[in-house]
Amino acid sequence: MLRDILNYARQAPSPHNTQPWRFKINERESTISLFLAPHRALDAGDPTTRETWVSMGVCYETILQAAAGLGFAHKVIVLQTNDLDQEIVRIQFTRTKEKHPEILTLLNQRHTHRGRMLHTTVPIGLARSCQQRIKDLPGITVHITDSKTIIDRVADFTDKGIQIALTSAKFRKELAPLLHTNWSQAKTGLHGYVLNHGIIGSLWEKWSVILGVDSKRKARADRQKILEASALVFVAAKGDVPKFWFDTGRAYLRVALEITKAGLANSTLTAPIEAGRFHEDIERMLSTTDRIQSMMRIGKATRTSKRRSPRLDLEDLLT
Ligand SMILES: Cc1cc2nc3c(=O)[nH]c(=O)nc-3n(C[C@H](O)[C@H](O)[C@H](O)COP(=O)(O)O)c2cc1C
Repeated sequence: MLRDILNYARQAPSPHNTQPWRFKINERESTISLFLAPHRALDAGDPTTRETWVSMGVCYETILQAAAGLGFAHKVIVLQTNDLDQEIVRIQFTRTKEKHPEILTLLNQRHTHRGRMLHTTVPIGLARSCQQRIKDLPGITVHITDSKTIIDRVADFTDKGIQIALTSAKFRKELAPLLHTNWSQAKTGLHGYVLNHGIIGSLWEKWSVILGVDSKRKARADRQKILEASALVFVAAKGDVPKFWFDTGRAYLRVALEITKAGLANSTLTAPIEAGRFHEDIERMLSTTDRIQSMMRIGKATRTSKRRSPRLDLEDLLT
């Protein structure tokens, strides 16, 4: 039963598909504990640990959603957002009669669509249903905009943000080993096929990052993808500390599931949030005093690779 839950949890999304979590099962107590796997967490790509805490929140939320889907009630025994080196969450499960297979379907369908997107009208109810879904997360807000002016500016920030990131030798040194050719058997990181590259393209992606070349073209390509977004979805928070980052992760997962349920594709881009101070301009444009923590473009999926990002086996993740 606990392994069934964790088989969903290990599919949770994470930056560069690092999967920076590990789990401990206590069969007698019927609990699952969530810990950080420090050797898989980002360093150069996550100087504040925001992305790591967000990932912990995403994973925790995936555990809870999977448990609800499989028909388990839960009780939170431990939950702390002070120390990444300690047990972050311990949850106890009991069986109930009520299963929600529709949640499991959404968890299986959710994925990051990195291809171009076609324009589509975003359902009016999406903003409301996302806001509804995060009501119990105090201090977290969701903002959805289809304003052309905002999308244009964010596209520029993305272009600049990606160039800033790729000019950093430290960032590239961390990213390169996580970029894999299409024939690689690696279970973490990003394979060419999820970035829509063919065999040669997947090889070039890795080597261009190692050599520090081609960053302008990459930044322009992402700029173009933002320009084609039907809308941008931001998760923001009243504060900029681990508790809010963790809850951002919880909201991220719920919002991604709502977008999936609406039949839309989503793709996260962190560059405008992490690089420079672009986030301040975005916050002004969104007329919010909250700190934006994550951003997704959404739209109608175009041709998409049938192959999804691989994941570590459960045995690799168990302590
Ligand atoms: C906190 C967070 C930040 C992310 N940032 C980016 C990003 O900047 N660019 C990107 O292409 N994908 C980003 N992603 C998406 C991950 O790369 C993706 O979730 C992972 O590769 C697993 O693939 P999947 O979402 O298709 O399951 C992010 C995901 C998370 C949870």
